[in-house]
Amino acid sequence: MKFDNSKKLYEEAKKMVPGGVSSSIRQTEWPVPLFFKSAKGSKMTDVDDNEFIDYVMGMGPNIFGHSPDFITNSVYQDMQDGFCLTGQTKKENELSEFVEKTLPFKRKVRYASSGTEIVQIALRLARSFTNKNKFLKFEGHYHGWMDSVLYNSHPDVSSEETLFDPIAESGGISKGTADEVVIAPWNDIEALESILKVHNDISAIITEPILWNSNVILPNPGYLENLRKLCNQHGILLIFDEVGTGFRVALGGAQEIYGVEPDLSTYAKSMAGGFPIAMLAGKPEIMDYMSNGNVVHGGSFNTNVMSVSAAHATLDYLLNNEDFYKSLNKNGDILIKGLKEVAKKHDIDILIQGLGSVFYLSFTNLDSIKNYRDHANNVDQEKYREFSKLMLLNGIRLSQNGRWHMSSSHDISDIEITIKAAELSFAEL
Ligand SMILES: Cc1ncc(COP(=O)(O)O)c(C=O)c1O
Repeated sequence: MKFDNSKKLYEEAKKMVPGGVSSSIRQTEWPVPLFFKSAKGSKMTDVDDNEFIDYVMGMGPNIFGHSPDFITNSVYQDMQDGFCLTGQTKKENELSEFVEKTLPFKRKVRYASSGTEIVQIALRLARSFTNKNKFLKFEGHYHGWMDSVLYNSHPDVSSEETLFDPIAESGGISKGTADEVVIAPWNDIEALESILKVHNDISAIITEPILWNSNVILPNPGYLENLRKLCNQHGILLIFDEVGTGFRVALGGAQEIYGVEPDLSTYAKSMAGGFPIAMLAGKPEIMDYMSNGNVVHGGSFNTNVMSVSAAHATLDYLLNNEDFYKSLNKNGDILIKGLKEVAKKHDIDILIQGLGSVFYLSFTNLDSIKNYRDHANNVDQEKYREFSKLMLLNGIRLSQNGRWHMSSSHDISDIEITIKAAELSFAEL
């Protein structure tokens, strides 16, 4: 397999764009960040005419695969009548009605364009509603790249003494933001209880209800319920960041699976089949602080015609295809089973965690990973990088962070090809 054209374009890009890419994680791709010319269904074709079965899927959003016709057609048709109206449309109301049918709890909603921004308005609302200034986030969780939240998402915890102090994950982060964030270990209710005893100024606890950003860890039985109880006891709002899990793990997200009601929840990735949209859904009395209170939320591109059209088409499809998640999970489970079998055949220790629709493959001899520190200290990331290189050479595109995203366009033949490629790659490792 050759990558000459991508390499050439990458050299050109680097002269104009720092690192040659517009999102830092892409810079880590091997052999260079690839340049693509088309993507359809489960496959992508790069500028060297290499074809890959893709499990990056936009890092989650493409639940129907790349450029599904029903979304392309809807967007194309709607944009004929204007696209950046910065005004209201009837379709936006219809979208909100669809949302009401998908979410397990009664909610009001607001829309934006990315997961990062929607988390910011959730935190702002929580501060205003509770009149308290700090918020608590968990180690290993990622809530976007803004200063306020880019703490302890992937900290170095190799030393036994590493504390739960806020560690900024980028240069240039405002030092003052560290005073407003409290860090806790996840999936450990006792640790949280002791932390809450010494902090009385926490407005909100924000959590990924399934830890999408570190090894796709599921919450321990009862953990989310206990989190809810603790928040009630301390007058703290509970925010579920469902930017990853929303519309992917179930129609009503992780909160539907676990039956735990947050005060606010954020959505983005899978909500519009690959188009940029984000949503905050919350209890009406909190959300109304944006209309009767003093909380400002803006955005020139919010509810632009293309994003509303794509989200409308996505939710319409999901509401009318009851078996969508069953079949997504079933195909994912077949793939997981096949990957485990070929790893075993080659005597390679792997762990796959998560659900059929989204899962994480680690090289480790642990038989379960329950928190970020287990993950950071016991997973051989280098080996995964080597594996993902071999998979690319065998026609399979994997994300750099170990998370695999299924789409409804991955069929049995794609799955069989992927298992075969994994077998060849394990053999070569
Ligand atoms: C849980 C979670 N929250 C927030 C974000 C930020 O979303 P975006 O990349 O759309 O800004 C992400 C992105 O990966 C995420 O996984």
